[in-house]
Amino acid sequence: MKMIEGNEKLQPPTIPEVLRKAREDFPILKREVHGKPLVYLDNAASTQKPQSVIDTITRYYGHENANIHRGVHLLSTEATAAYENARAKIARYINAADSSEIVFTRQATEAINLVAHSFVEPIVEAGDEIVITHMEHHANIVPWQLLCERTGAILKVVPILDNGLLDTEAFHKTLGPKTKFLSFVYVSNSIGTINPVKTLLDAAKERGIPTLVDGAQAVQHKTVDAQSLDCDFLVMSGHKMFGPTGIGALYGKRSRLDGMRPYQGGGDMIAHVSFEGTTYKEPPSRFEAGTPHIEGAIGLGAAVDYIESVGRDVIESYETELIAYAIERLKEIPNLRVVGDFEERAGAISFVMENAHPHDIGTILDTEGVAIRSGHHCCEPLMRRLGTVATARASFSLYNNHDDVDAFIEALKKVNTLFG
Ligand code: ALA
Repeated sequence: MKMIEGNEKLQPPTIPEVLRKAREDFPILKREVHGKPLVYLDNAASTQKPQSVIDTITRYYGHENANIHRGVHLLSTEATAAYENARAKIARYINAADSSEIVFTRQATEAINLVAHSFVEPIVEAGDEIVITHMEHHANIVPWQLLCERTGAILKVVPILDNGLLDTEAFHKTLGPKTKFLSFVYVSNSIGTINPVKTLLDAAKERGIPTLVDGAQAVQHKTVDAQSLDCDFLVMSGHKMFGPTGIGALYGKRSRLDGMRPYQGGGDMIAHVSFEGTTYKEPPSRFEAGTPHIEGAIGLGAAVDYIESVGRDVIESYETELIAYAIERLKEIPNLRVVGDFEERAGAISFVMENAHPHDIGTILDTEGVAIRSGHHCCEPLMRRLGTVATARASFSLYNNHDDVDAFIEALKKVNTLFG
């Protein structure tokens, strides 16, 4: 076991065999950048793809490509079956009660916009309140601001504490008789906070408030069970869970989806069209107008298969240990402060350095082959609340290992050498 100089007690986490093998499944991890081996720590922005997902997409185009739900020919039947099979996989993955509770969308962003338009807008009046938190991604802020502009509803924001955790006391006080909807993030994309999701959902349920959980940064790191959470809606992002870009999924309880108006109009979402009036299909088709992102959905199904083949418990416990190791090693870097002071985090570590702007940190790390993100991480209000405009962020996935963390730390030492 490797010891870290100056910190003899710190040992890198042991990599389970299944994860050691999993790293080999991601071809891009073998490439070099700027003549150095790639150390990919920008997983919160987008994860890399295993060969099985790449092969599934290639096979789809090389073997069964056709439009779905529209043809009686064999290719169309096969493509339809593959698309619907992907829906069933995603339903199983988050333990939805039925695959009809999964709507394919372009991203988690579109899933939130869909809920704002089709579920929330018809139930709010001027003066009603929508509750979100101060740590939301712009995708869970702006759709609600637009809705408030259209309806006269009021956006209420639950504050966070100085340490980056949600102020749960304030949360309970924010919910009130005018609250019509609660939408919040499970895991913060920018600082890795894990919200007490069940507590928040139970409090809303007691008051009869419908809920949406932004699971875009949770479902690839943790086991998320929609039925036991008992949320009304849950959104996911395909490319952040080893699937393709341009595909996301909305989980909605069937009882909610049934009463919702369409989001967009077009082919495949209708039962009958006439100039006198049009009728719509049952969910989920009602919310999937036009030819969908067929290979995206099938690729996402393959990504879910991949995660399940590795095992979510293994992923969660290993990533937790790896992140704890990285946090410990970051203490070796003078001038560096981790943003968010809490024990349990998932996915991401955000940090700032006294002597270098986050973009400078990102640029120097890149020359060392280490890919991180710098900026506001689509969370400008959160950044301002934490007293900064930007952070540098390292975000982790199942294929990262302690060599990645060690390379990251060595690259940060170079930042200090250059910036003094
Ligand atoms: N939401 C993505 C991120 O956190 C893009 O980087």
